Amino acid sequence: MAKLLCLVILPLITILPCSYALPQLTLRTGSSLSVEEHEQTFLTSRNGDFSCGFYEIGGNVFSFSIWFTNSKEKTVVWSANAKSPVNGHGSKVTLSREGNLVLTDVNGTVNWEGRTSSGKGTAAVLLDTGNLVIRDSTGAKLWQSFWEPTDTLLPLQPLTKGIRLVSGYYNLYFDNDNVLRLMYDGPEISSIYWPSAEYKSFDVGRTSYNSSRNAVLDTEGYFLSSDLLSIKASDWGAGIKRRLTLGYDGNLRMYSLNESDGSWIVSWQAIAKMCDVHGLCGKNGICEFLPSFRCSCPPGYTMRDPTNWGRGCQPLFSKNCSKEEEFVFVKLAQTDFYGFDLTYNQSVSLQECKKTCLDICSCSALTYKTGSGLCYTKAVLFNGFSSPNFPGDNYIKVPKNMVAKQSSLSCNRSAEIVLGPATVLGALVLIFTGTSWWFLYSRNNIPKSMEAGYRMVTSQFRMFMYRELREATGKFKEEIGRGASSIVYRGVLEDKRVIAVKRLANISHSEEEFWVEMSIIGRINHMNLVRMWGFCSEGQHKLLVYEYVENESLDKYLFGNVSAERLLAWSQRFKIALGTARGLAYLHHECLEWVVHCDIKPENILLTRDFEAKIADFGLAKLSQRDSTSLNFTHMRGTMGYMAPEWALNSPINAKVDVYSYGIVLLEIVTGSRISSGIKVDGKDVELREFVQAVRHILASGDIKDIIDSRLNGHFNPEQAKDGD
Ligand SMILES: *[C@@H]1O[C@H](CO)[C@@H](O)[C@H](O)[C@H]1NC(C)=O
Ligand SMILES: *[C@@H]1O[C@H](CO)[C@@H](O)[C@H](O)[C@H]1NC(C)=O
Ligand SMILES: *[C@@H]1O[C@H](CO)[C@@H](O)[C@H](O)[C@H]1NC(C)=O
Ligand SMILES: *[C@@H]1O[C@H](CO)[C@@H](O)[C@H](O)[C@H]1NC(C)=O
Ligand SMILES: *[C@@H]1O[C@H](CO)[C@@H](O)[C@H](O)[C@H]1NC(C)=O
Repeated sequence: MAKLLCLVILPLITILPCSYALPQLTLRTGSSLSVEEHEQTFLTSRNGDFSCGFYEIGGNVFSFSIWFTNSKEKTVVWSANAKSPVNGHGSKVTLSREGNLVLTDVNGTVNWEGRTSSGKGTAAVLLDTGNLVIRDSTGAKLWQSFWEPTDTLLPLQPLTKGIRLVSGYYNLYFDNDNVLRLMYDGPEISSIYWPSAEYKSFDVGRTSYNSSRNAVLDTEGYFLSSDLLSIKASDWGAGIKRRLTLGYDGNLRMYSLNESDGSWIVSWQAIAKMCDVHGLCGKNGICEFLPSFRCSCPPGYTMRDPTNWGRGCQPLFSKNCSKEEEFVFVKLAQTDFYGFDLTYNQSVSLQECKKTCLDICSCSALTYKTGSGLCYTKAVLFNGFSSPNFPGDNYIKVPKNMVAKQSSLSCNRSAEIVLGPATVLGALVLIFTGTSWWFLYSRNNIPKSMEAGYRMVTSQFRMFMYRELREATGKFKEEIGRGASSIVYRGVLEDKRVIAVKRLANISHSEEEFWVEMSIIGRINHMNLVRMWGFCSEGQHKLLVYEYVENESLDKYLFGNVSAERLLAWSQRFKIALGTARGLAYLHHECLEWVVHCDIKPENILLTRDFEAKIADFGLAKLSQRDSTSLNFTHMRGTMGYMAPEWALNSPINAKVDVYSYGIVLLEIVTGSRISSGIKVDGKDVELREFVQAVRHILASGDIKDIIDSRLNGHFNPEQAKDGD
């Protein structure tokens, strides 16, 4: 605006000093940039490409930074104090009388200093290269920001001995053998991942003989290093603004600025498969190659911090070496934990390899390669990855009783519930992409293509804010259903998706447990199952977000006074029965975790516009009434009439209870009456057992018409009716 004014007014009234409102070019001795004026007062390079001043990191928190002026969002290339930001009031940067750049916080404490040793600095200037320098009166550079890079190298900014690019736990630096490397330098381990430690540096075209340790990105898009590394941007050539940035995800990328829309294009990256970056999934975590990547925990382990994969997984058991404990192995196909071998043997059988690991208490897992019979036992598990290219399998050592527990994932019979320890297996990636890392990535300009990948994952299942759902449902205005411990509301998300929001009462799960459960349900995706899009867990507020299914539940079309146009034709009933069976089969056999629904009934079978069946409420069995202590009927999962005899008999609950309930529903679909609430034949109450016998008899004698819903007036397919039984 100021510029525009100048252009218009300047020719008319040339005497008016116009430049006062313009960004400054020079900071002189004794003058300051103050944080309150960060929008008006900052330094710019003469060519306008770069700006330097206070950059708002978040609410009222600032860093003293340099950024690209013309990128879509301010792309920060250097920060004096990213790790210890200053207050949005009272902070300032001053070129002191001693010739140093001094950043002071609100109370006057020095947060950072750009020190010149001679004390002769008279001006701070931002050069066209993006280099902030302190000069003396002769123009000599006494201090420069190029000497103290953060996570980015600009063209002509050398990376030399003793200088590192740092981003989180990741480092780009010259190693002691003069080779330029990427290293994960975490709280527990340090691990080099580029160039891959599996090869000698010579094999990847590097040399350790040149000790000058100097790497620089030139103005044409070549990044050349004294260890013979030579990289060319895909759009090499002069005239394009570039940067080389070490991302929060540990990948080193070269970016080119698209000047027409201010976006960044990745023109080179060091790591093609993200799982080759070490430390991404933390200790005990496993990284899986996808188009992008995702993290998971091995069986028997759970995420240490549900918001941060970097902290990895922790075992759900404690190993006691002084105690005789029985361990077994769970196989993880084509998986390895790189490095940290305890023992190494060649040409041994898998049996022998397992025995080696069992004999060593500290052994946590082994990797075995069939064929060559290579056996590596591991004490600690780092850098885990799964890849179809890995020619071996990993076997995780877990207590025997734990594996037994794991397979009994089932309904919540009463107060007691079995929480499968491996519930976390692979599932939490969604949470991972949905929360903190997503935030970090989005702020650090990850390449568009990758961003799209993350968006895709996150848009399918994510955590919602309570505020968001309250807005989407118009403050929970439109109630569309109600259960014993929940109310369902209709809502519309910002992206126009219509949703059903289920508000749960009496959920006493801890946040963490709730997340784990939800993320498992959220991964289940089948056309005959109602899709869960996310959840919200904020204190007492526990809500589930589902796709909205247009037509109502099946019971509305079967029982009571159903109007003629609502009455389901035989073909529709057949389709619904088949769809329900498909959905159940998927739940029982095909999804990652074996899920028993425990409450199959017409009320839980929703119908789409095309009368396709979608089963609702699956996976919720484990959430209900978890910590109640009394044992009575109300704490049982399920609905009287559809409940299998196992419930009453106290025998083990498994997928068969759903099959039983499905059988009842099927009979109801065929007969059009509530079999679950007692059966009347010729006005007489009969028991289910007798009824089934009668049906068998009818089937045998061939006249099935008597049991089919009379409202169909005989319009049905006898073959299908018989098969359906
Ligand atoms: C000044 O403020 C900073 C950050 O707000 C704080 O860390 C520091 O201890 C304060 N110093 C004094 C002397 O109060
Ligand atoms: C070592 O690398 C530097 C910088 O890339 C180069 O100028 C120099 O010629 C190299 N020295 C040898 C002996 O190759
Ligand atoms: C730069 O952005 C414009 C506008 O979005 C787009 O049309 C163009 O294709 C982009 N150029 C490159 C090289 O991606
Ligand atoms: C390990 O087991 C022994 C023997 O059962 C027991 O005395 C000891 O307290 C246990 N130690 C730990 C750390 O659980
Ligand atoms: C495996 O190698 C270790 C030494 O690393 C040795 O003690 C052990 O006997 C070997 N085991 C087998 C089965 O060969």
